[in-house]
Amino acid sequence: MRITVIGSQGQLGYDLMSSLAADGHQLTGLTHQQISIEDVASVQAVLTDSRPELVINTAAYNKVDQAESTAEAAFTINALGPRSLALYCQKNNIRLMHISTDYVFGLDSTRKSAYSEDDLPGPLSVYGQSKLAGEYFVRAICPQHFVIRTCGLYGTAGKSGNGNFVETMLRLGKERDELSIINDQHCTPTSTLDLSTAIAHLIQTDHFGLYHVTNEGQTTWFELAQTIFALAGINVKTNPISTEQYNAPAERPRFSVLNCAQFKEISGFSLPHWKEALKTYLEL
Ligand SMILES: NC(=O)c1ccc[n+]([C@@H]2O[C@H](COP(=O)([O-])OP(=O)(O)OC[C@H]3O[C@@H](n4cnc5c(N)ncnc54)[C@H](OP(=O)(O)O)[C@@H]3O)[C@@H](O)[C@H]2O)c1
Repeated sequence: MRITVIGSQGQLGYDLMSSLAADGHQLTGLTHQQISIEDVASVQAVLTDSRPELVINTAAYNKVDQAESTAEAAFTINALGPRSLALYCQKNNIRLMHISTDYVFGLDSTRKSAYSEDDLPGPLSVYGQSKLAGEYFVRAICPQHFVIRTCGLYGTAGKSGNGNFVETMLRLGKERDELSIINDQHCTPTSTLDLSTAIAHLIQTDHFGLYHVTNEGQTTWFELAQTIFALAGINVKTNPISTEQYNAPAERPRFSVLNCAQFKEISGFSLPHWKEALKTYLEL
């Protein structure tokens, strides 16, 4: 298949390019230097050039805390960006895959069971709101769409580029004697290597729609950090703290575990448990 991956130097985009190349697809990877998804003229020119049968958009404004004070930029990229891609793809009969987030949930503060695709979203942050608006544009405009909500991504590009939670912990664990980490936000960190495998599978089907796709299991940032330190042999004192104690600018869900049953039913497989995925990543 002729596939254009937008955001090809990002964490997911980078691992997706390797995974799709191994499957023999004809790939074009686009960086932010080559396309601005919110710019209709840029989308028109670049996509007409690469003539894809499928566009995969991994590009986003991902600075969750910064988005609280730059709502216009977040909405421009996360909502109007996917809208312009959806309009182009719909007009030209091209399939569109778009990536979204567990941060479309969180408003239900008592939630303790994994969210399915049928659950009503309720974002707590500007980032979550802007991503939800992007999802809605794709689903409303482009019938041949896959929208994937995922969570806590870490991937190969994070080892050198803008980093990720795992890389930040590896660095801080070596620099400091003691770390305080949030222990009341429950979610499922996900490896972009595994997410890429899931995407590679889904795009071979005609099962368009909204999917939750993460590694298996659930944890907190505190438990994730402890596991990283144990696997990497780093000796650092860790203190569990609350969301209030950390006091970040953006509110985040206390529970945003995603139920991936729909993906499992369509694909016939589940992604590895988050601990296994983390071990594989650390061994790279
Ligand atoms: N990271 C997470 O924990 C997480 C969790 C849940 C869902 N997601 C979603 O998963 C997707 C992939 O995330 P990721 O971690 O792989 O992101 P990432 O590493 O930040 O990569 C995003 C890429 O998009 C590019 N980009 C940014 N704005 C753009 C624009 N306006 N036009 C074109 N390209 C642009 C960036 O380039 P520059 O850096 O040069 O601007 C970057 O290379 C995103 O949709 C994100 O919202 C992420």
